[in-house]
Amino acid sequence: MSEGYESQRLLHQYLLFHYGSDEQILEGATAFQGQEEVEGLHFAEATVWSALMLDRYEEKDQGQLRALDIGCAVGRSSFELSRLCAEVVAIDFSQAFINAAKQLQAGQEIPVQRYDEGQLPTEISLSCPEAVNPERVKFAVGDAMDLPDDLGPFDIVHAANLLCRLSQPQLFLQQLPDLVKSGGQLIMATPCTWSEEFTAQENQPQGSTLDFIRSSLAGTFKLQRQVELPFVIRDHARKFQISTSQTSTWVRK
Ligand SMILES: C[S@@+](CC[C@H](N)C(=O)[O-])C[C@H]1O[C@@H](n2cnc3c(N)ncnc32)[C@H](O)[C@@H]1O
Repeated sequence: MSEGYESQRLLHQYLLFHYGSDEQILEGATAFQGQEEVEGLHFAEATVWSALMLDRYEEKDQGQLRALDIGCAVGRSSFELSRLCAEVVAIDFSQAFINAAKQLQAGQEIPVQRYDEGQLPTEISLSCPEAVNPERVKFAVGDAMDLPDDLGPFDIVHAANLLCRLSQPQLFLQQLPDLVKSGGQLIMATPCTWSEEFTAQENQPQGSTLDFIRSSLAGTFKLQRQVELPFVIRDHARKFQISTSQTSTWVRK
């Protein structure tokens, strides 16, 4: 991740993506005018609630569940997981992202620059969503490719839009059997945007990303569910990134 102004801009872009209301994200965006609903504005919630198989848990289990949110960025999915789980370990490589997540956790409002034109920001204010359990989340800086040996096991591991940002995705994938409890769930969302900027050609999947994940998890996980989840990120009022993320749910054998 680059330093200085750009990383501040990226931080604010992710805060808006995770915590902005529909109105805050779409303000001034004529491209979406007239649409009753814009899909993809609540991605950090959707990767939890559209992918998790809730019917696997009885109410009595819910106070016991442990989750890992790896590549949590500014933490929205981690707070979503805290509605269900007693403990959420939330890890990201970026100190700036983790600092912001901790500010929100402490109940602070964060002033964020939302861009109307390429270099013309408006200041808005964002805060932690209601009805989550921020005290259950432990935010930390860490590396998905080199997690502490004693971190797991977890009932739920959630990794959204992380895989194709890793220089050596295999190093992350090979830790998963030890990180997820037997019967536990792994949620892996990825837009499959492999690029040499993040991952050298020889470390990228040679075929489809799903086959790459499947063969890395072979014998240890079973694929249970697969959905495509849209996400919309605002660059400025006239420029949005629109993508979808292949979101697969795997159960540990
Ligand atoms: C594309 S963002 C996705 C963030 C969030 N999960 C979401 O879906 O909006 C990728 C995130 O992975 C983090 N990341 C990149 N490399 C990492 C690594 N080696 N270990 C942990 N996090 C990493 C980045 O800092 C960034 O927050």
